[in-house]
Amino acid sequence: MASITIRNLDDEVKDLLRQLAAENGCSMEEQARAMIRAAVEGRAGQADRIDQIEKTLRALTGSERQTAPVSAGSGKPSVRGTLSGKRILLIIGGGIAAYKALDLIRRLRERGASVRVVMTAAAQEFVTTLSAGALSADHVFTELFDRNDEHDVGHIRLSREADLLVVAPATADLMAKLANGHANDLASTVLLATDKKVLMAPAMNPRMWSHPATRRNRATLLKDGIAFVGPAKGEMAESNEAGEGRMAEPLEIVAAIEAMLDERPKPLAGRRIIVTSGPTHEPIDPVRYIANRSSGKQGHAIAAALAKLGADVRLVSGPVNIADPAGVATTHVETAVEMKEAVESLLPADAAVFVAAVADWRTANASGEKIKKVAGEGPPSLKMVENPDILAGVGHHSRRPGLVVGFAAETQDLIGNAEAKLRKKGADLIVANDVSHESGIGPSGVMGGDRNKVRIVSKSGVEEWPEMGKDEVAARLAALIAERLATIVV
Ligand SMILES: Cc1cc2nc3c(=O)[nH]c(=O)nc-3n(C[C@H](O)[C@H](O)[C@H](O)COP(=O)(O)O)c2cc1C
Repeated sequence: MASITIRNLDDEVKDLLRQLAAENGCSMEEQARAMIRAAVEGRAGQADRIDQIEKTLRALTGSERQTAPVSAGSGKPSVRGTLSGKRILLIIGGGIAAYKALDLIRRLRERGASVRVVMTAAAQEFVTTLSAGALSADHVFTELFDRNDEHDVGHIRLSREADLLVVAPATADLMAKLANGHANDLASTVLLATDKKVLMAPAMNPRMWSHPATRRNRATLLKDGIAFVGPAKGEMAESNEAGEGRMAEPLEIVAAIEAMLDERPKPLAGRRIIVTSGPTHEPIDPVRYIANRSSGKQGHAIAAALAKLGADVRLVSGPVNIADPAGVATTHVETAVEMKEAVESLLPADAAVFVAAVADWRTANASGEKIKKVAGEGPPSLKMVENPDILAGVGHHSRRPGLVVGFAAETQDLIGNAEAKLRKKGADLIVANDVSHESGIGPSGVMGGDRNKVRIVSKSGVEEWPEMGKDEVAARLAALIAERLATIVV
C-alpha cells in the first residue's frame, strides 16, 4: 500500500488516530491502513468505534464541562487546551520505557502544558537529551552540579516552577531512592526537595516489580502521598517477558495528570468508597482455574470517576490486564473468598460499589498438585461449593455503608432479576446490564468490551440510560452516587 502522510491530516483526525493507535499498540500509519482496509472490505462497526473514541476523548478532555476548546467549524471536541498553562516537570528514569516518555511530552504539550525535562544518567542511555529537548522545546536538565543551573539553586527552582512532578518511567531505583530519602543526583534531589504533588509511572521487569523491596518502597511512597499510575500487565519490551511492570500508556498518564491538576469542586471529598472490579479466579489446581469474561474496565472506570470527584477510593480488583486507576488505592486478589476478606477489612465506608463479576461457586476439592491426565481414567470430577455473597454480606452488615450499589449482569429477565437482587441483597441501587449476545453492543459484548447499556434499578423505579462508553457510564454513576450521598444524613 502507498505510504500515508499523517502530517497532512487535520488535527482532529490525527488526535483520533493517535488514540486508536495507542489503544492498539501500533503506529498511526498502521492504524490508518487497518481502518482503510476495514472500510474497503465493508466491515461493520467502524462508525461505532469512531463514535466511541470521540466519547472517550470527550471524557478524557473533560469537554463535557466545556473547558476544552472546540475546534472551529466541526463542533467536535479537541484534546487541545485541557492542560493549558500547567507546568509539568517530567523526570525520565533509566528504563526501556523511556522512549514512551518522549510521546508523553508531545501529548502534554498538545494539551497546552509546558514540559520541562530532567533526565537521569541512566535515562540518557535509552533516549537522548536532544530528542527530549526538541520535543519539550526547552533545555533538558541532567546535572546536579551544573555551574549554569545551580547558581540559583536549580533543583529548588525546577520544583518551584512546576505545578506537578511526573516520574516516567519511574525505575525501581528512583522509587527506592525517594522512599529512603536519597538525593545523590539531580532527579532524586528535585524529588526530595519538592513540595509539589508527585505522580510516578513505574516500569520495570515483573520480577523487579514484585520484589518485596519494591513492594515496600511503593507502600512507603503511597503513605508519603506519592500518586501512582500503573504499571499494567502485559508484554515487556524485553523478548519473552510478560507480567506486571509495563508502564502505563502515555494517554493513561495524561489522564492521571489531568485528574491531579483538576481544580473543580470535589463533591465526594472526604468520602471513602469501596469498589470491586474484574473477575475472580477459582483454582482447580495450581495451574488451572475457573474464571469469567470480566475485563475490569467498567469497575476500574468507576473507581477512577469516583476518585476524580474527590473520593478516597479503595479498589479491590480481581486478576485483570489493565493498569490500576490513578489516585486509587488498589488491593489485588484472586478468589471470591480473598475479595470478601479484602472488602470487609476496608469497612467502614460511606459507599460500596460492587462491580466485580464474582464467581458464584468454587471447587471444594482444589488440588495442591497439577492434576495429571491418566489414560483410561477419564476427566476428574470437580465438586463445587458456593462462594460467599459479598454484596449481600455488606448489604446486611452491621457496618453497612450508607449507600450500597450492586451490579447485575443478566442474560434474561434483566429487570425482574435486578429487582429481586435489590431486595434480597440489601442494596440501594442495582446497575443492571444485559450481557447476552442480544444486547446489541458490538462484537465483544459488554463483558470485555468498551461500551455498556445499563438500567438503574432502585426502590423508586427503573431508569434506562442510553448505550455509551464505559467511561461515560462511570462518570454518570459517580455523579449519581455523589447526589445520593449528599442526601444521606449520618
Ligand atoms: C537494558 C536495560 C534495561 C533496563 N530497564 C529497566 C526498567 O525498565 N526499569 C527499571 O527500574 N530499571 C531498568 N534497568 C536498570 C536501571 O537502568 C538501573 O537501575 C539504573 O541505575 C536506574 O537509574 P535511574 O533510576 O537513575 O534512572 C535497566 C537496565 C538495562 C541495562
